[in-house]
Amino acid sequence: MTTDASGIEIVTLTPAFAGVAAALHQTGFDDCWDESAICDLLAVPGAFGLLAFVPAGIEFDGEITAGDIPLGFVLVQTVLDEAEINTIVVDGNARRHGVGRLLMQNVFAQLQNRASARLLLEVACDNDAAIGLYTGLGFGEIGRRRGYYHRKDGPAVDALVMERV
Ligand SMILES: CC(C)(COP(=O)(O)OP(=O)(O)OC[C@H]1O[C@@H](n2cnc3c(N)ncnc32)[C@H](O)[C@@H]1OP(=O)(O)O)[C@@H](O)C(=O)NCCC(=O)NCCS
Repeated sequence: MTTDASGIEIVTLTPAFAGVAAALHQTGFDDCWDESAICDLLAVPGAFGLLAFVPAGIEFDGEITAGDIPLGFVLVQTVLDEAEINTIVVDGNARRHGVGRLLMQNVFAQLQNRASARLLLEVACDNDAAIGLYTGLGFGEIGRRRGYYHRKDGPAVDALVMERV
């Protein structure tokens, strides 16, 4: 477990937290993942996840929390010397407080211990928040998948393939 200066704690996302993670995922995606989907992804060899939460009694967003509040999580898949961000989401009410950046920085630290040479991800080209997060952390575009993300209410959008350089 790590704790940053703001009191946010980062712990390993175990299957015991899959329900919490599924509820968080709902706040970020139309096509959200349920508890069993998250357990399945965690069970793949080389996968790991991290969960951010603010513990009881810590001030967050101007209020002292009464109980532990889950803020967001990230799921990563490693294969040999490559790693890919499977998903990252921060609760809709907790965004722009540095939680996404903190989760990603903890992923970088974990990958240092796993000898992963490359870190890749895919992001919808209209997802300004995520692209802002990744660009600020040193990711650059290395490719594009045309019409990769299908949208219920509009045309499909491209996926940017990004790598941390
Ligand atoms: C993308 C996401 C995880 C970012 O989490 P977050 O905790 O709000 O991000 P942070 O507060 O750590 O922001 C870090 C940086 O990312 C960028 N950023 C974050 N949100 C942004 C936004 N809405 N618009 C533009 N840039 C943004 C900024 O550069 C920000 O730094 P700053 O606040 O110092 O300016 C969050 O918006 C989310 O859960 N979105 C829905 C799910 C999703 O799209 N996941 C990514 C799929 S690829």
